[in-house]
Amino acid sequence: MARAYSITVEAIEKERARVGGDLSKVDVSRVIALDELELPPVGTGQVRMRVLAVSGEHNVDHAALADTVNIAELRGGKIYPGNSAVGEVVEVGPGVGKFAPGDIVITHCNGAPDRYGYPLRIWAYDQPDSIGWYAEEAVVGDWQLIPAPLDCGLTLWEIAALPLRAPTAYHLWRRAHGIFRLKVSRERLARLNVLGFGGGVSELFLQLAHHEGHRTFFCSGSPERRAALEAQGITPIDQTAFHRFASRDDVKAFSKEVKRLTDGEGMHIVCDMLRGPVFAAGVAAAAREGVNVSAGWQLEKQIGYDSAGASVKQLTLDHTHYETIYGCEAATSLYGVVFRPTIHKEIYAFEDLPRAMAEMHQNVQTGIPIIRVAKELPEKVRAIAP
Ligand SMILES: NC(=O)c1ccc[n+]([C@@H]2O[C@H](COP(=O)([O-])OP(=O)(O)OC[C@H]3O[C@@H](n4cnc5c(N)ncnc54)[C@H](OP(=O)(O)O)[C@@H]3O)[C@@H](O)[C@H]2O)c1
Repeated sequence: MARAYSITVEAIEKERARVGGDLSKVDVSRVIALDELELPPVGTGQVRMRVLAVSGEHNVDHAALADTVNIAELRGGKIYPGNSAVGEVVEVGPGVGKFAPGDIVITHCNGAPDRYGYPLRIWAYDQPDSIGWYAEEAVVGDWQLIPAPLDCGLTLWEIAALPLRAPTAYHLWRRAHGIFRLKVSRERLARLNVLGFGGGVSELFLQLAHHEGHRTFFCSGSPERRAALEAQGITPIDQTAFHRFASRDDVKAFSKEVKRLTDGEGMHIVCDMLRGPVFAAGVAAAAREGVNVSAGWQLEKQIGYDSAGASVKQLTLDHTHYETIYGCEAATSLYGVVFRPTIHKEIYAFEDLPRAMAEMHQNVQTGIPIIRVAKELPEKVRAIAP
């Protein structure tokens, strides 16, 4: 038996009833509960992993709120969440050649690749029967693991921030950049203006763009996150100065500021991730031939836009979803070299995971929340676990 967090339909309904159906009042720490799980025996091609640390992921917030879809209901009434982890291999089944007990690994959450490698489903979310890693131990296929780059210069906690967010950012960047280059060659324009809204994925996206020499802008409400990115050479924009784009005038004022910051040109590439009011601001900020890309719909699932205006401006909208498995491995090679995540100042204990998720929901964290699952860390990682 292993302790593992779960989200049930009953817990969602009970919390919804408590707040009279007002989702803005939901306390997600009342929905995510510590549970127990019987692990299956380790089969052919499988690995048993002791989870060392995990990061708080926004899809867990969506699962607890049941705001985008009620994934616990769709999965039969209960899910075990958590699709990003660092772990230690403790047992390998027959046919596993890639890993041995004692190896430190990270997970990816591409639950079912389509014929070109893109995820049809996400592990511990919509992949049927998938069990997540907000747990002390897990049994997974060896194809789901990647060796952890322990010598990349990041701490264990920073490494734990990346298995879901870095591949997402890597995919968003390679897609958006590739699409832009179909329209405007490097020969004509070497240095692009790149804007990212929001949180963890966007900051990694901007780190990629910055590393490749582009001008980068981070638009968020958090002074700590803006300061962390400014120290890396990424220009901050305070989103609250534009009232989070509540009105058309706010969007106009933001667009004017973007024009000022980019010498009248606008943003060649915009990473949205939130949609809702952010989408209109991203479209208004776009340069001609611009690309607006997103893997997220945190504020709204639907978008509406002026198709004629987008055509005249040669604007491209692109939608992505996590990464291929090859892409996850490529993204991992950039840990520390390019990806240097900002993490929240508190490293939460396993028992405090519901509070970590509630604080993520309340938007009061100063970076990506990390939860230490294992009390005892293996010798191999102690030096990088301050
Ligand atoms: N499909 C995929 O493959 C995939 C992968 C990863 C994530 N996602 C989704 O993408 C979204 C973002 O993920 P993430 O990991 O980057 O999240 P995150 O690190 O938790 O960041 C979310 C941040 O967005 C910021 N934000 C900026 N503008 C905002 C606004 N107008 N309203 C509210 N918040 C705003 C907030 O910070 P400030 O208050 O400081 O602005 C908040 O901390 C989530 O919905 C997540 O589920 C999808």
